[in-house]
Amino acid sequence: MSKQFFFEAGAFPDLSYVELIAVLESFNISKDIITRFGTTIFLVKNEKIDENFVINVFQRLGGCKRVGYILEDIDNFSYRSESIQGSKIIFGISILGDSLKNESVFIKKLANSIKRTLRSDAISSRFIIPKGKDNSLNSAQVINNQIIEKGFELDILRNFETEKYGKTLMVQDLEGFVQRDMYKPNTDIQMGTLPPKLARMMVNFTAQNSGILWDPFCGSGTIPMEAVILGFNTLASDVNPVAVNTTSSNIEWLSKEGFAPDALYESFRFDVTKANKEVIKKLKNTDITAIVCEPYMGPPQTALLSEQKASELLIDVKNLYFKLFDLIDNKIEKRYIKVILIIPSYKTQKGWKTFGIRELVNKRWIVKNGDYLKNRDLKWSRKNSIITRNIFILERT
Ligand SMILES: C[S@@+](CC[C@H](N)C(=O)[O-])C[C@H]1O[C@@H](n2cnc3c(N)ncnc32)[C@H](O)[C@@H]1O
Repeated sequence: MSKQFFFEAGAFPDLSYVELIAVLESFNISKDIITRFGTTIFLVKNEKIDENFVINVFQRLGGCKRVGYILEDIDNFSYRSESIQGSKIIFGISILGDSLKNESVFIKKLANSIKRTLRSDAISSRFIIPKGKDNSLNSAQVINNQIIEKGFELDILRNFETEKYGKTLMVQDLEGFVQRDMYKPNTDIQMGTLPPKLARMMVNFTAQNSGILWDPFCGSGTIPMEAVILGFNTLASDVNPVAVNTTSSNIEWLSKEGFAPDALYESFRFDVTKANKEVIKKLKNTDITAIVCEPYMGPPQTALLSEQKASELLIDVKNLYFKLFDLIDNKIEKRYIKVILIIPSYKTQKGWKTFGIRELVNKRWIVKNGDYLKNRDLKWSRKNSIITRNIFILERT
């Protein structure tokens, strides 16, 4: 019988949900096999998918923290079988999903009873407890204590009505995302950079797992970096030559660090508003399958913007994108291409200000957000932030 698997979303569950659907779509698997269990858990079951496939999908994701399988019969879960002969079992317990209160007393009691069971079978064990008031282990605890290799993590999955049990197969390589965010060699150009997890999700929103991806506003290269890791042949361009060099050295660093040993990329200077004929010819002859980008959004903001400032920034963004779509539609004449882009909203003294996607693209473009999510809203915003990033998934017919 095929197993049921679960994915645990990160801080932006709707984005994680859309990303999972899109990655499955890239392997020709329909979204019908996913059901949401509460806000942050996605259940997946299908005879076509096995453990290796699920792990492969999980490793591509930016928005999920944990993957595992559902234990259909918890009473038959044998802790003993998890034991590596002669060595101590290292185990953890995590409560995932819509669990509102602190559960540390319950977790400790359950851990003690598991320990007693193991002891009665002459197996010694070590229990790793979630940190502070957390109900679940963080990825560093799971990885550093080798819980998956030397024991198990038992997961209790809750929505507001019921609960299920699961066993973790893998946790997110958070360290890798942090390294790329904080320790890439060049981050010092004067502009905001995307969090790598969001860049990864945006690349995955293309619902492609190979092809040629272009970021025409590459900045320090966060999107191209995640794209090469996922195996895309990547073009990175920017009006600013410093940004072009920065992107190149960041991708070289990625290769050296082993994140993308065979990175295929090309970076070049290109002003979207003053299209250079030679570059256009080259782009026309390149089989670009997706454009993924974040435009210039103004300097980082710490205080509310005036309405006027927000309008000026939005006009700049709109102009840049108009030029980009003119380029795609009329100059490099690309059809059947996906575009994933960010339109910012700015918080002003008089509320939020943005513009609608239909102001930007003509009828030849389908806005796909609604195919993935009923309310169509794909937003990334931190608490108290002045800028919200609205993400759009577009497909050219
Ligand atoms: C917000 S940054 C992109 C940041 C990038 N996503 C990252 O994470 O590093 C926007 C970039 O757009 C570039 N840009 C602005 N106007 C442009 C134009 N006309 N053509 C090409 N690039 C442009 C800027 O130089 C800047 O590097």
